Parts: sequence; C-alpha cells; structure tokens
Amino acid sequence: MPVAGQGGRTRVTGARVLSGIQPSGVQHLGNYFGALRQFIALQEGNHASYFMADLHSLTSIRDADERRALTHGVALDFLALGVDPARSILYRQSDLPEVTELAWILTTVTPMGLLQRCVSYKEKLEAGHAPDHGLFAYPVLQAADILIWGAEWVPVGQDQKQHLEVTRDIAVKFNMTYREVLKLPEPYILEDVAVVPGSDGRKMSKSYGNTIEMFASEKTLRKQVMGVVTDSKGVDEPKDPDTSTIFQLYSLFANPEERAALAEAFRRGGTGYGDAKKALYEKVVAYFGPARERRRALEADRDAVEDVLRDGAKRARAAVAALMDEVRHAAGVGPPK
Ligand code: TRP
Repeated sequence: MPVAGQGGRTRVTGARVLSGIQPSGVQHLGNYFGALRQFIALQEGNHASYFMADLHSLTSIRDADERRALTHGVALDFLALGVDPARSILYRQSDLPEVTELAWILTTVTPMGLLQRCVSYKEKLEAGHAPDHGLFAYPVLQAADILIWGAEWVPVGQDQKQHLEVTRDIAVKFNMTYREVLKLPEPYILEDVAVVPGSDGRKMSKSYGNTIEMFASEKTLRKQVMGVVTDSKGVDEPKDPDTSTIFQLYSLFANPEERAALAEAFRRGGTGYGDAKKALYEKVVAYFGPARERRRALEADRDAVEDVLRDGAKRARAAVAALMDEVRHAAGVGPPK
C-alpha cells in the first residue's frame, strides 16, 4: 500500500500510537484520508495499536448481527489496507474488558458539564437520537480507550478533536484527584487533507449519504464517482479547479504533475466533467486495487481473521495490565499491593 498523495507523514519516534474505528458503517475515502491512512504510516517506528470500537457502536446500532458483521468488516478494512499484526496490535474493543473498568473509574471524576458541551452529543440529539446514558458517556469510554495505553498520539479526523480534548481533561481530573498516573495524549490530525469532500461537495460523511467507498463493488464505486456533483459547464467551457469537487478528490490520488495537468485542462476548456470523473474512478481503482484484492481474500478466511484478533487481545491485555494495576492502586480499589 503506497502512502497516498501529499502529506503522508511518517515519523519514526517510538511513540505510543492508538486509534479506533467505530463499526457503524462502511469505510469511505473520508475515513481513509482523514485517519486510516495515518494508521498505516504510523506503524513504522512506533508502538501502534488499533481497534474496532464495537462497544461504542452499542450507542447507535441495536442489532447484534449487524454489529458483528460491521465489526468484522472493519477488521477486514484494517488488515486489507495494511495494518500489520506483526508491527502493531489489532484488537476488538470488547476483548479488552479492562477498558470498561477504566471507563467507570473515569466516569466518577468526569464533570457533567464537560460531556454536555460535546458537539457530537448535541448533534446526535438534534438528529433525533434518544438522550440515553451511553450516548452521553461515549467520550468517557473513548478516554478509557486512549488512556489505558498511555497513548501519546491518537490519529483521528477533525471531528474527533473535541473528544481528544475531553480525554485530556478527564486525565487531568484523575491525576488531580488521586495521583499522576495517566498520560495526556496529543491529537494527530492530518492538516492538508483532513476534510475530504463528498460527492455533493459537503464533507464526506455517512450521514450525508455522499460517500465514495473504496471497498464497494466496481459497479457501486463507479456510480458513486459518477455521481459527484458539478456545475453545468459544457465540455468546451473553461472550468475552475479550485471550486471543483472532482478536482479536489482527484488531487488526493494524483501526483503534483497530474494535478497541475488537470487544473490546466480545466482552465483551458475542452475537458468535460465526465472525463475527469473517469480519470478519478481509474485512480481510485488503481490506488485501492491491491487492498481490494487482499480484502476479498480475507473475506474468505474468517478463522484467520479471528486468530489475528485473539492474538491481538492477548497482547493488548498484557500491555495494559501494569497501568491498570496502577490506576486501581491509586484509586484504592482492588486488593492492596
Ligand atoms: N469516536 C471515534 C470515531 O467515531 C472512534 C473511537 C472510539 C476512537 N474510541 C477511540 C478513536 C479512541 C480514537 C481513539 O471516530
């Protein structure tokens, strides 16, 4: 898997890296360029762990089979895109029960106001979601995910920035209440391509129904790319690359020369949006071709994937044991040392 386009930073620093994906839908280009791509790059030279946040998905999905299928799907996405169990730890959140234990301990030091201010909570209520406790406490569970690893870097999309700030606040609260045990994480947000436009020009998001999904069938993928909205300029008319969603999407895959060539072709006129969409489709398929193939192979081998996750859970539990002991001891729960 090449690291795409501009800005694929790889830093070799031996940092602890942690991130998760909530299995609530199919992964798309926004997830990939906003976050996932970084997961792959950050495995190199760091201590990276990645997980499927199936416990978080309890707040939005109420069907057990659907959750299982989506969780498995995210595991396939991770592995197909290059999360390598030899270089990182891949696990299912619910296989690390210490996370829920820590989440409760953190809940007891979390001010209500901190959670009431969370934009994603307010947005979900506005969208008609019942204000249940799981949804409200969602950021506390996320804080537990992160703090249990003592993670320094948490690669996430822009939309998760506030949850990272909440995580830091909760860690400070715990440390002040008991003692200095928890390490404050940094967000790790890819500045230049953090927001990927969807087919309607708004931010790509499942909730807007404007996604382009790298693992969709060729037919669906083609439909999604061809569905990108444009203005009504004809083939011969000059076009403005700076306001073109197609151009922005194409730029994610193209090298600087290719990008300059399309910009120039748009400005000159004589290049239709249909041509540009075809070029974009070809780019997507070429870029994700190897990953699509790997994912198909993994789909046929459920046991192998479960083996990876079983091993991941074992390694994760061993890795967090010492910190959990410290947390329990600091808070005075469990047997004395
Ligand atoms: N809330 C994140 C999202 O929706 C998923 C998530 C859960 C996460 N726990 C995490 C991300 C811990 C980073 C670290 O994208």
